[in-house]
Amino acid sequence: MHVSVDPDRCQGHARCWEICPEVFDLDDEGHGRATVSEIPAELRDRTREAADNCPERAIVLS
Ligand code: F3S
Repeated sequence: MHVSVDPDRCQGHARCWEICPEVFDLDDEGHGRATVSEIPAELRDRTREAADNCPERAIVLS
C-alpha cells in the first residue's frame, strides 16, 4: 500500500499526524506529508483511519 498527501488539498488539519505519526509528519507550514511511501502491514489500518479522517480528503492511498 502506497500513501501520499496531495499538497493542493491539504489545509493543515493535522489529523493524519495525530492518528498515525509513524507515517505522517507536518512540514514547517503545518501541512501533512508522508514520511514513508510503502506502508508496513501493521500500520495499514491506522493509515486508512487517517485518510478517512482528513476533512480535505487530501490523503491518497493506492
Ligand atoms: Fe492535511 Fe488532512 Fe493531514 S488536511 S495535515 S492531510 S489531516
